Amino acid sequence: MTKVRKAVIPAAGLGTRFLPATKALAKEMLPIVDKPTIQFIVEEALKSGIEDILVVTGKSKRSIEDHFDSNFELEYNLKEKGKHDLLKLVDETTGIRLHFIRQSHPRGLGDAVLQAKAFVGNEPFVVMLGDDLMDITNPKATPLTKQLINDYEKTHASTIAVMEVPHEDVSSYGVIAPQGEGEHGLYSVETFVEKPAPEDAPSDLAIIGRYLLTPEIFAILETQEPGAGNEIQLTDAIDTLNKTQRVFARQFTGDRYDVGDKFGFLKTTIDYALQHPQVKNEMKDYLITLGKELEQAEPKTKD
Ligand code: UTP
Repeated sequence: MTKVRKAVIPAAGLGTRFLPATKALAKEMLPIVDKPTIQFIVEEALKSGIEDILVVTGKSKRSIEDHFDSNFELEYNLKEKGKHDLLKLVDETTGIRLHFIRQSHPRGLGDAVLQAKAFVGNEPFVVMLGDDLMDITNPKATPLTKQLINDYEKTHASTIAVMEVPHEDVSSYGVIAPQGEGEHGLYSVETFVEKPAPEDAPSDLAIIGRYLLTPEIFAILETQEPGAGNEIQLTDAIDTLNKTQRVFARQFTGDRYDVGDKFGFLKTTIDYALQHPQVKNEMKDYLITLGKELEQAEPKTKD
């Protein structure tokens, strides 16, 4: 069996929900307290045994390449000043092989993944989306990417991560029609549907940003017509793949932080800050005081 060694991080979207911040800055470089969101993804990949990562970039993504490059001047300066703690932070993701490719036009997630065809070759691989940070306040949890790899080692099949979401939110996601009850959180899937209206959704199990795919997905993506939003949708290609080889869904039960959404980003920042050794106490005191002030300003009405 081929080992899963490669990951693809699509990061070529326009990031319109964070304009104007993303006009010149890659969305993936926005920090949660002091760490760019893409670094959390790279760390999850490392913890899952991934050896090579391809980042699919677009315009304004230069900063991502610079972030993962070594910065001799900075490192020299920190060493000279004896700032070893900071040096360690700057060094955290060295040791992983990162590669970059451009997606010339943002034609959709399916097209972004297709750019990885030559990099991946004939091996199973994972796709990791930077908008979804998993279990970042619970470092002891088994990374979701690792869970998918464990599934692959048993089934040798593509496996897509899903999570139960509120019914009214399903139209923002790809959704699965599961076959049966699933076994220990692993489902066979009848169909994968991109962004269904709530009344048409086959379940509330939504695709979240981790996919383990077999390389047969590329031949499908090459001829995939645009779907929802006139974009080449990865979900549509996965639905086609499922017709010729089994594709499973793994239900994630940990904490998912949606940092592609403004409010999700703010909540993540607060949760992460509450665990960050340098700011957790101040943050907690601040939130308690703020909570009291808000309560006084707008007392809760009793039913
Ligand atoms: P989104 O749908 O969240 O789009 O893409 P976006 O551009 O990142 O953000 P908004 O909605 O405009 O604010 C999901 C993932 O797919 C990547 C994005 O970078 C993101 O990681 N993507 C999307 C591409 O790499 N290329 C595309 O053509 C589209």
